[in-house]
Amino acid sequence: MLYFFVRSSYLFALFLCKFLFMSFKEEIVRRRTFGIISHPDAGKTTLTEKLLLFGGAIQEAGAVKNNKIKKSATSDFMEIERQRGISVATSVLAFIYKDKKINILDTPGHKDFAEDTFRTLTAVDSVIVVIDVAKGVETQTEKLVEVCRMRNIPIIVFINKLDREGKDAFDLLDDVEQKLGLSVTPLSFPIGMGYDFKGIYNIYEKNINLFSGDSKKNIEDTIAFDDIQNPELDQIIGDKAAEELRDNLDLVHGVYPAFDKEKYLEGKQQPVFFGSALNNFGVRELLDCFIEIAPSPQPKMAEERMVDSNEKELTGFVFKIHANMDPKHRDRLAFIKIVSGTFERNKPYLHVRQGKKLKFSSPNAFFAEKKEIVDISYPGDIVGLHDTGNFKIGDTLTQGEKLNYKGIPSFSPEHFRYINNADPMKAKQLYKGIDQLMDEGVAQLFTLELNGRKVIGTVGALQFEVIQYRLEHEYGAKCSYENFPVYKACWVEPEDIKDEEFKEFKRVKQKFLAQDKSGQLVFLADSQFSLQMTQQKYPSVKLHFTSEFN
Ligand code: G4P
Repeated sequence: MLYFFVRSSYLFALFLCKFLFMSFKEEIVRRRTFGIISHPDAGKTTLTEKLLLFGGAIQEAGAVKNNKIKKSATSDFMEIERQRGISVATSVLAFIYKDKKINILDTPGHKDFAEDTFRTLTAVDSVIVVIDVAKGVETQTEKLVEVCRMRNIPIIVFINKLDREGKDAFDLLDDVEQKLGLSVTPLSFPIGMGYDFKGIYNIYEKNINLFSGDSKKNIEDTIAFDDIQNPELDQIIGDKAAEELRDNLDLVHGVYPAFDKEKYLEGKQQPVFFGSALNNFGVRELLDCFIEIAPSPQPKMAEERMVDSNEKELTGFVFKIHANMDPKHRDRLAFIKIVSGTFERNKPYLHVRQGKKLKFSSPNAFFAEKKEIVDISYPGDIVGLHDTGNFKIGDTLTQGEKLNYKGIPSFSPEHFRYINNADPMKAKQLYKGIDQLMDEGVAQLFTLELNGRKVIGTVGALQFEVIQYRLEHEYGAKCSYENFPVYKACWVEPEDIKDEEFKEFKRVKQKFLAQDKSGQLVFLADSQFSLQMTQQKYPSVKLHFTSEFN
């Protein structure tokens, strides 16, 4: 009897373990965490919204519209504050589609916030790049794709606004290959464009969806048609369009390699879809293919070792910090991407940099535009943790292991200014404010080696106003700026300080040397010419345009 009891308990425990483990694995496999990137106005917000509509996460168009910082806000920081409030809610948009848990990480389109986008890209497992059919590849897209390529992030390209007159599809594919350095293969192909836009041939699923231009807002206005050689095609889209489509597809098959999922996952091949986000055309095809081919949470390299998402112990890192809008509640929301294990409410976790254990009683999960307290989250998920100043971007959280995820690199800012204290009575507040805003990643701080003066570097001029405004309203401190002409910040690879050339470099260029917030040496070149001269004169001193170069 006892034997029977022990044995059945053992079997039950075994079953429970297996069930729990299986479900943990299944939870990982069903997750897709990605970002949508584009040049402003290409249609990122519209596409995001349509994806949410498919997931049933929102009921009507227009719900995510407010998410973006409008172009008109270039010097209006009050507007930015308002937008900042909205963007907390839309930082992560999650929904379920065909049993897949989809997490879209919002990337600000405004170029002044490009640094935010770069950081968010460290937390995605794949991206969708949106390109405007009329404008082709634009500058902002080039920069963002370059970051993705550096990290071999799998990319799907969506060419948008096919309902408008645009460039020829083959020219666009060439543009994408040449300007973005990608190796594309179209998985859908347009039939006509603009006024003549008739629909899309879905190469991936081998069928045709026809576009009914009369009721442009209707999601279901497509007709499935699955044999390209069928003479009925000529009747439906006309002889000319049918012939053109057959020729184009011959060309596609002749010129572009067949889709290879492995290559896509390695970041070596990029499938392309065509469509119109506004008209909800080609979006379902994109989403259906996306959930099938896009990667589930990937292993991530820490300084110490590679961490697999299937590992049971929690590890994760902070990729974004959002300050509370309400000055009476100074807490911030730190966004953690879970890399492995589960994140559980009220369980103590190690804040590795500070070496202390922290418990979180109200971790937030994100669903559509809402955030809610969650008991358990899985790899690929983003949790928002209320923070009173413990976290900074790049911090790692574990279950006890001393593990550090590789830092999130800083890129050279575009604008530099000295920051001065404009109210001597509030020096303490000013430095605290600067410190916290830099932890949040609003801008970068450099301290000059020569005289200890502080220089703020930003991606866009707008951030200077944001900093000034926030220092005053959140910290009660006042600052003023002074121009500091810098062409590029270059991180200096640590050298043997006894090296004569390095010593000479440090002596001669002392005026242009500074330390970044983590104490790394930075050369602030004042012109392209001076940078070139420095590189020629001191060839053994290695200068890098990002803070991460190992
Ligand atoms: P973004 O987030 O990348 O900046 O772009 P967003 O989605 O806001 O789209 C920019 C503009 O392009 C919007 O028009 C949007 O309606 C339009 N758009 C997006 N997709 C398509 C498409 O497939 N076809 C056409 N014709 N237009 C598209 P807007 O006038 O700037 O804004 P709104 O007044 O429509 O809100």
